This record gives sequence, structure tokens and C-alpha cells, in this order.
Amino acid sequence: MAETTYPKRYTITAALPYANGPVHIGHLAGVYIPADIYARYLRSRGRDVKFVCGSDEHGVPITIRAKKEGITPQQAVDKYHELIKNSFADFNISFDIYSRTSSKTHAEVASGFFKKLYEEGKFIEQTTQQYYDEKAQQFLADRYIVGTCPKCGNENAYGDQCESCGTSLNATDLINPKSTLSGEPPVMRETKHWYLPLNEYEAWLREWIVEGHKSDWKTNVYGQCKSWIDQGLQPRAVTRDLDWGVPVPVEGAEGKVLYVWFDAPIGYISATKDLTPDWETYWKDKDSKLVHFIGKDNIVFHCIIFPAMLKAHGDYVLPDNVPANEFLNLEGDKISTSRNWAVWLHEYMQDLPGKADVLRYVLCANAPETKDNDFTWKDYQARNNNELLAIFGNFINRAVVLTHKYYNGAVPQRGELTDFDQEVLQQLAGFPEKIAASLEQYRFKEALGELMNLARLGNKYLADTEPWKLIKTDASRVETIMNIALQISASLTILSEPFLPQTAQKLANMLQYTPGKWDVAGSVDLLPAGHTIGEAALLFEKIEDAVIDAQVQKLLDTKKANELANAVAAPAKENISFEDFSKIDIRIGTILEAEKVAKTKKLLKLKVDTGIDQRTIVSGIAEYFTPEEIIGQQVSVLVNLAPREIKGIESQGMLLMAENADGSLAFMQPSKPIVNGGGVS
Ligand code: MF3
Ligand code: ZN
Repeated sequence: MAETTYPKRYTITAALPYANGPVHIGHLAGVYIPADIYARYLRSRGRDVKFVCGSDEHGVPITIRAKKEGITPQQAVDKYHELIKNSFADFNISFDIYSRTSSKTHAEVASGFFKKLYEEGKFIEQTTQQYYDEKAQQFLADRYIVGTCPKCGNENAYGDQCESCGTSLNATDLINPKSTLSGEPPVMRETKHWYLPLNEYEAWLREWIVEGHKSDWKTNVYGQCKSWIDQGLQPRAVTRDLDWGVPVPVEGAEGKVLYVWFDAPIGYISATKDLTPDWETYWKDKDSKLVHFIGKDNIVFHCIIFPAMLKAHGDYVLPDNVPANEFLNLEGDKISTSRNWAVWLHEYMQDLPGKADVLRYVLCANAPETKDNDFTWKDYQARNNNELLAIFGNFINRAVVLTHKYYNGAVPQRGELTDFDQEVLQQLAGFPEKIAASLEQYRFKEALGELMNLARLGNKYLADTEPWKLIKTDASRVETIMNIALQISASLTILSEPFLPQTAQKLANMLQYTPGKWDVAGSVDLLPAGHTIGEAALLFEKIEDAVIDAQVQKLLDTKKANELANAVAAPAKENISFEDFSKIDIRIGTILEAEKVAKTKKLLKLKVDTGIDQRTIVSGIAEYFTPEEIIGQQVSVLVNLAPREIKGIESQGMLLMAENADGSLAFMQPSKPIVNGGGVS
């Protein structure tokens, strides 16, 4: 067999998250879990890996966040950098370094990168007119300008996008633009910037991507790149007028910083530099394989702009692959930070402590690899209970418990093998390569499926051989069966580690086994006869409905809060005369009696003291009030509404109710007690 060749070393990057908020399940599913599985797998194969990440701490989103919270940009990134870093640690994302772009190293590396390109004449300089806020005395980033969307008329569209209709805009498209800093209309002012002439790299990009990576890049990634290139590339500004970022290291560029999408990907390089003195090898030696894990909104930056920067620089390797994922939705809706529609990792950890691997499992099993996917709590529960617990956990538990029961925890000898044994062992031997083949092609879902197939094989082996029955009739046969079951368990320790690192650790403790490398995982001799395993412990536990219901309720509460926050009042009705109004007779009354109207959901029959009389009123409020809680309450009653019959009861008037945006109702009550019969006008 030909020896497979593989790269000398791997430089694996995961998109630097913006330090302007916490991270959620979408981040994990799209980027960090696949990247982590890949890195852990390669390490298990003994390959030389550097897995780097860090916080993206520059750019307008950061300054906006800081302003909102009334803190400085540095304070904002300090806060979120910590939070994000801890979340990644909670989920055992095994970065070799988690760095940040506000670091000194990064300023040097990014600045040096720009300087080299500048000195070699790789940029073009251009002076353009841009919006300037005279009161705040600064140029305005697109996000700092609001105005009316020319497409849909939304009055609060941003200078880069209308969030109402989704159109992407230029600030100059907005009608009646206003600065969000001062509220004043901005003026046009000249400013000079540096541009990377992407058009000059178009032919090269076409050859490199469109011709060169047609078959090895994912179709979603390839398709996006091709469409960008086919549309023709334009020079792209790589500097901005902003006071937060890496200063442009050129004379005459005071008050200007590098564009965040110029400095951030260089953050991968500076992180590697902070990690190891040997950083240049990982970035400049042609035997280094560079892989960028990102979400689909980052494709153009990692496949077109950053490679053009690297190419312009000349010293660096280019990405070998950019396995971008699509988006994960949550319960049928787009994940959204501003609408708080997300499962935040730090909250998950508080609500479901010890369950990092369960989420890792669910997010990988349901990863948005080729299309957008949906996370639901029901699916989360089902995958835990029916897969992790019922398949993986159940197999391990049987193997360990029976070994203790029959052999005091000592691994028994393997005797003569049946055809079935041989077939099972042969299958076992094939798993490491099968899983590896999927992982090498960035098919993480498929790889995880194969891992579970190995656990299924173990389960089936025990179910078919039934050692618990044989123990009475053929004890020596049981020794062989349990030996094989334990070898499969040890194999699972190795092969599950990239996916479920905590579980693999628990399993290793249970078996008292120091996991070998990936390549031995198909062996039948991982646990020698006589080796004593540890006590049985549960790898997974059943997740009850109440736990899931609480999470679903939390989302429903969020939805409701959003509805109320976004409620738009109905427009006013046509004007009426005072004369019309004075025909209406509204009085304060007190509810004396209340009962449900039989066979209806919404109706209560009330007796109300209106001061004029005691009368019966049928009111459609039963969904929001119980009879007991409203007796004795004061209400506003329209007393001169013509009586009408409702469900056979004559209703003499109407209670006035206020309706909330979600349809819920409240009484119109006086702010202090009023004698019954008091008029409302
Ligand atoms: N902060 C960006 C985002 O969250 C990703 C930056 S990736 C890098 O979309 F390449 F710029 F580092
Ligand atoms: Zn619009």
C-alpha cells in the first residue's frame, strides 16, 4: 500500500469573534466545534498542530457597544474578551492560544504588514468625500449614520444596511441622513485613504480558486467566491477615519486606523507569534497547511481579501482550505444578538452545568455544514436521551458493570473467536480510518455518525451474544465476549476524544486506561487481560421534560419581551365631535360577583355595583382573570351601551379594558378609590 503523505505541520485558525458581546450556540456550531474536532483529531494522530484564535477587538461594532454601555472601548473589549475566553474554556475548545487584537504584538505585526505593502507601492491612495459630523468633529462610519431607507421608507436605516428590509446600503443612499453622535445632519468632507487594488489580483484569484479549488473546497464556499470574482473586483479601502484601532503607520495619516477587516485576519499571525518563537515556520514554510474555520458571512474576507493581502505581502502561505459553515437557527428563527434570540454559552453553562459535551454533540450532529440548520430544545433532549445515553452510555455501562460483576473489574482473557467475533473485530479495525476519512474532508457530522456506529456495534455485540445468559452455561465464552466489549470501549475512548473530550476523559478514568494515539484505536489489544478497570460511573444522564420546558419557556419569554418592545400603536381613528363623545356614559363600579359562563373559554358573568344599580355584565376576560381575583376590584363601566344577549344572558353594559400588544388585558381602574357611580370624562 502506498504511504499516504501529509503536511509537515498545520496552522488552524478559527474566526476571531468580535469582543462586543458574549458567544452563542451559532458561533460554536459554525466555527469552534468543527475547528476543535479537527485540531484534536490531528493531535491524536501525532501531527504538528497550532490552533489559534483570539478576540477581534477593533472596528465600529466595538465603539458602538462601548458607547451604549457608557464605557471606553478598551473597557468593553476587556469585559467581553474575558467572557468569551471563559466560554471557550467551558466547552473545552483546545486553542493553543486565545489572543486578542488589542495586544502590543498585534499592533506591531499588523502595522508592519501594512508598512511593507505601503513601501512596496502595493496600495493606491485616493481622496474621496465622506460624511463628517461637524459638532462631534469626526468622520462618520456607516454605522454612525441613520436615515430613511430609499427602498422601504424605514426611518431608522443604518448607513450600511436597512435592518427592516435587509437591503445593504451606502451611507450616501440614505434620505435625510443624521449623525447618531450629535443628531445633526452630516456634511461632506474630503479624506484620504489607502486601497488594496483587488482588481489587480482578480486573474490570480480566478486561477487559484476558480480553477484550483473547484474540487476540494466546499461548494457553498466555492460558489460564493466564484460569484464574487465573476462580478469583478474593485479596489477596497483598508484604512478608516476612526480613533479606535491600529494607527496607520504612515506620515499624514493622523486620526486614521487600519480597517478592522485588514487588521483582524493578521490577528491569526500575531496570535501565532505570541504562541511560539517558531511562528514564522507555521506561516511561511510551504509545508505548513493553513486552514481557516469560519462562518459563511466571513467567506469573502478569508477567501478573497486576506489571500490578496498575503499574496501582496509575498512571504506567507495561502489557505489550503476554508471550510465555512452555513448558519444555525434557533427554534425556527434566525439567531439575533439585538433581539436576544440565542442560547448564550455562559447561560447554558449556568443552567446545565456539566453538560458541555451534550451541547458539543448536538451541535455537531446537527451542524449547518451544507445548509442552514435549526437548533431546537426537543431535538437536544432527544439526542441526549436516545443517542448519547441509550447508545453510547448504555454500551459502556453494560461493559463496565458486567466486568465488575463477573471478574471483579479485571479484564478477562480472550479465547477462541467465533465468526461473529471476527467480523466484529474486523469492523472495529476499520473505524479509525473511516472516521479519519470524513474528518480529513471536513465532514464532521458524518464522522460523528461513524463514531456512534461504533458504539452501536458494541451494543449490538452484547445484545446478540447475551453474556448475562451465557454466564450460567458457558462461562469461558463470556470471558471472550467481555474482553472484546472492553476493547471496543477503549477504542471509543480514543475515537470520541475529538468530539466529546470530557466524556473521553471520564471513560479513560473508568477504564483506568491512558488513551493511545488514533492509529492504534482499531487494535484488539488496547486493554491487556488482567488489567483492572475502575468503578462504573454514568457518562450521561437522562434529561427530563422539566429541564427542556424551562429552556423553551425562557425563549418564549424573550419572544414576548421583543413583541412588547417592538409593538407599534395602531393609528388614531377619525376625529369625533365633543357632542359625540359626551353621549358616552362611563362610571366607576365595583365587581361584586364573578363566575365562568359554562361551555365558554373567554366569558365571565359579573355582577357590578355601578352606583346607579347592581347589574349583570358578560365580559370576555376569562383568559386573563380568575373570578376570585377580581371580586372587589374597581373597574370602568360603559353603562349606557344597549343591553344585548350573550349565551342566553342579558349583558347590561361593558367593562372598559386596556389591551397589551400581546393581546393580554388590564382593567381601567381609578388611581385612588372612587365612590361607585363616579363619572369618567
Ligand atoms: N470578528 C469577525 C466576525 O465575528 C470575524 C473576524 S475573523 C478574522 O464576523 F479573520 F478577521 F479574524
Ligand atoms: Zn429598507
